[in-house]
Amino acid sequence: MTETPSTVPLEKIPQHVAIIMDGNGRWALQRGLPRLAGHKAGTENLRRVIRASVELGVKYLTIYAFSTENWGRPPEEVKGLMYILEDVIDRELNELHKEGVQLRHIGRLERLAPSLQEKVLDAIEVTKNNSRLILNIAFNYGGRDEIVQAIQRIIKDGVPPENVTDKLVGQYLYTVGVPDPDLIIRTSGELRVSNFLIWQAAYSEWYITPTFWPDFDKEEYRRALETFAHRDRRYGKVTSGELQETNA
Ligand code: FPP
Repeated sequence: MTETPSTVPLEKIPQHVAIIMDGNGRWALQRGLPRLAGHKAGTENLRRVIRASVELGVKYLTIYAFSTENWGRPPEEVKGLMYILEDVIDRELNELHKEGVQLRHIGRLERLAPSLQEKVLDAIEVTKNNSRLILNIAFNYGGRDEIVQAIQRIIKDGVPPENVTDKLVGQYLYTVGVPDPDLIIRTSGELRVSNFLIWQAAYSEWYITPTFWPDFDKEEYRRALETFAHRDRRYGKVTSGELQETNA
């Protein structure tokens, strides 16, 4: 594995990076290729970004691979994306396992083919003790769906209303135990959330780039992390510097 020299001090590396890997279709269109060729190139890029995340010291990486709305795409594209997930597990699992990557899934598994569900569950089981990088694959994932399911389970569990806190809701989400994303990257320039981690993103920083996902290379990844390192995260408050001035 080649080392990615980082100019970002380790303590400024975001603990959790989430990515909306957008622009595969347009990348393909620009080259006169079918959309699926864009998704394949996007998958190759994903391999590189996972490796770079391990090298840079990112602890959690969440990738948006298939949304609950993506079922509305042409059937051959949906089939192709299912096949890609299967193929990624078949071809990459050993290597990811060796590198200490723990695979997790967020979203609804039940609509996927039973053989694919089994494969996903098996990959989760095989890698469950790894801790170098937690890779959350959002597949058949929707943020609203996640929140609706959480509400349903909270009601089913008979939780009294006064016990429903922000912390409790977090415990009913797919991401239970995972810190909220510090940085969300969206490629291809669209300025929207697209139903991705809508609860967890409350105070995430965003990095939006016009680059299409297959072209989002290590260099730009590093730039995104550098930009993040210079952000002043105030969580709705004021900076400590401003506080000192006010108190002076
Ligand atoms: C958005 O680009 C991308 C997706 C809907 C799929 C992302 C999937 C991958 C990168 C492959 C990796 C997948 C797995 C399962 C590990 P778009 O098709 O919306 O692009 P466009 O906006 O240019 O049309």
